Amino acid sequence: MRSHYCGQVTEALLDTEVELCGWVHRRRDHGGVIFIDLRDRDGLVQVVFDPDRPESFATAESVRGEFVLRIHGRVRRRPAGTENPNLNSGQVEVLGHELTVLNTAKTPPFQLDDEEVGEDVRLRHRYVDLRRPEMVQKLRTRARITGELRRYLDGHGFLDIETPMLTRATPEGARDYLVPSRVHQGAFYALPQSPQLFKQLLMVSGLDRYYQITRCFRDEDLRADRQPEFTQLDIETSFTDEDGIMALMEGMIAELFATVLGQELARPFPRMAYAEAVERFGIDRPDLRIPLELVEVADLLTDVEFKVFSTPANDPKGRVAALRLPAGGELTRKEIDTYTEFVGRYGAKGLAYIKVNDPAKGREGLQSPIIKFMPDAAVTGILERVGAQAGDLIFFGADKAKVVNEALGALRVRLGHDRGLVEPGWRPLWVVDFPMFEYDEQDKRLYALHHPFTAPTLESVDALKGADAQQLQSRAYDMVLNGTELGGGSIRIHRPDMQRAVLGLLGIGEDEAREKFGFLLEALDYGAPPHGGIAFGLDRLVMLMTESRSIRDVMAFPKTQTASCPLTHAPAAVGEDQLRELGLRLRKTVSA
Ligand code: AMO
Ligand code: AMP
Repeated sequence: MRSHYCGQVTEALLDTEVELCGWVHRRRDHGGVIFIDLRDRDGLVQVVFDPDRPESFATAESVRGEFVLRIHGRVRRRPAGTENPNLNSGQVEVLGHELTVLNTAKTPPFQLDDEEVGEDVRLRHRYVDLRRPEMVQKLRTRARITGELRRYLDGHGFLDIETPMLTRATPEGARDYLVPSRVHQGAFYALPQSPQLFKQLLMVSGLDRYYQITRCFRDEDLRADRQPEFTQLDIETSFTDEDGIMALMEGMIAELFATVLGQELARPFPRMAYAEAVERFGIDRPDLRIPLELVEVADLLTDVEFKVFSTPANDPKGRVAALRLPAGGELTRKEIDTYTEFVGRYGAKGLAYIKVNDPAKGREGLQSPIIKFMPDAAVTGILERVGAQAGDLIFFGADKAKVVNEALGALRVRLGHDRGLVEPGWRPLWVVDFPMFEYDEQDKRLYALHHPFTAPTLESVDALKGADAQQLQSRAYDMVLNGTELGGGSIRIHRPDMQRAVLGLLGIGEDEAREKFGFLLEALDYGAPPHGGIAFGLDRLVMLMTESRSIRDVMAFPKTQTASCPLTHAPAAVGEDQLRELGLRLRKTVSA
């Protein structure tokens, strides 16, 4: 039906006849001539209808916004002074000869160029929302990215292999989405949280190098970078180690940024131990673009009378950390109150601070609600350690280490943005040397920091059993970019005795292990090679590369924060007959 996309109509086509199809972006009547901006996924072109052709002119008079048109016409130069430098086609216009209305359209629920439209309305009419050039561009970039990733992996001998969607639980730490079986009443499939176990089985099969761009399902609290279904670039490879995998993956990401964005990432990516990341940035996915750091000061405060500081300073699980904000002395009382409330969301009970007017003047040069409780030695010790300069503000967090890290880690990022301190560019890094387990105080048990198939650094089962579980380190690695965890992976356990021992430490006994992961344990008995891999959050990667605020903006049909779809109204109730067929009956909710 068409010879060109609208956005492709440029000076190169002067005096040629074109056939175009698209949507009416705008229609203007200009005393005797009608201008229609015709839009398709490639851009806009201006089409002019004049009364010399009465039939098409009459049709042009009748069209409205978002009508679907087919146009035949001739490309000509725009009259001097009417060029539009913002359009690819801005030097030319099409003189319309024939016009066919392929379909009419209701007035759209919102103007495509209206920036203020609520996300709910946009998602409800996503098909209209996706007409916006900005959205088209994001989806285009996404397609380009998956294409380049496939090209790289194909070139390195990886095989694209699909794994089941109707499967058993794969423990990645979230709740499962369950699918009832009609044939086996009372039994349920789980949608995969990741293809983790299948990709390991493929290594046992000797497929050697696997990848898949695949959907994963996790029922967890949603955020800007978390959706209930999302896409992973999932990878596994045999007979290699951490360095081999990291080098290959770094190469892939660097090549991707070079081809798609024309940007060079400095290589090798720096590596940082988990403990160092948490100590300096309060988090295991530090945004290295922000030049602020947490500094431990507990050792200076063990003896001060100010209990808020001395109690955590003497608690092995406690932490007292300082965060120096250069030129932070400018902050008003009100701004400090806002930040105090902000850290409160992370459980901090307060936000002590020292304003450094003149560090040379000792106490006289400082302003603070807390220094009256502290001896000179502690105060000067702190100023020295954080490198305080005139005009700075020093914030403090004192509590259990977890609370201090989360609160000051988040404050660091917020201050970076609020104070315009975020440096431009891309700052990738690998976070390594993770602990194997995390102890949960409430549940009084260990949880795997990655997943239970991650190999420990210790090679022997005896050594593992003799060690302090909380001190064990894993062979896991995360790729972090500008404060976002892009991907995570590890070398896996490939010996059944080691896998049993690790499951044992997680409180998963023989019977439960057989029942849940029997197929994996069995497979490990049949000649499993050493193997490892990684999975990237594709949506997050695209979000960063398109500078989007949320992964919702780079998914064609995302869910809302409450895991629902305003377009299809999923999830929805089902009929009694369908439930009966599945052997299900809903629990009656008793209303009070
Ligand atoms: P992990 O659980 O770290 O590892 O997931 C890998 C990457 O997937 C992305 N991601 C998400 N993206 C959007 N919404 C979500 N709800 C969501 N959850 C995770 C993140 C994350 O880094 N099987 C292991 C990988 C392996 O060991 O090979 C796994 O799934 O970017
Ligand atoms: P208070 O003793 O509660 O009056 O607190 C004195 C100062 O210490 C105030 O500026 C509080 O914001 C701050 N503060 C209180 N608890 C903490 C804490 N756990 N960590 C950091 N600062 C705190």
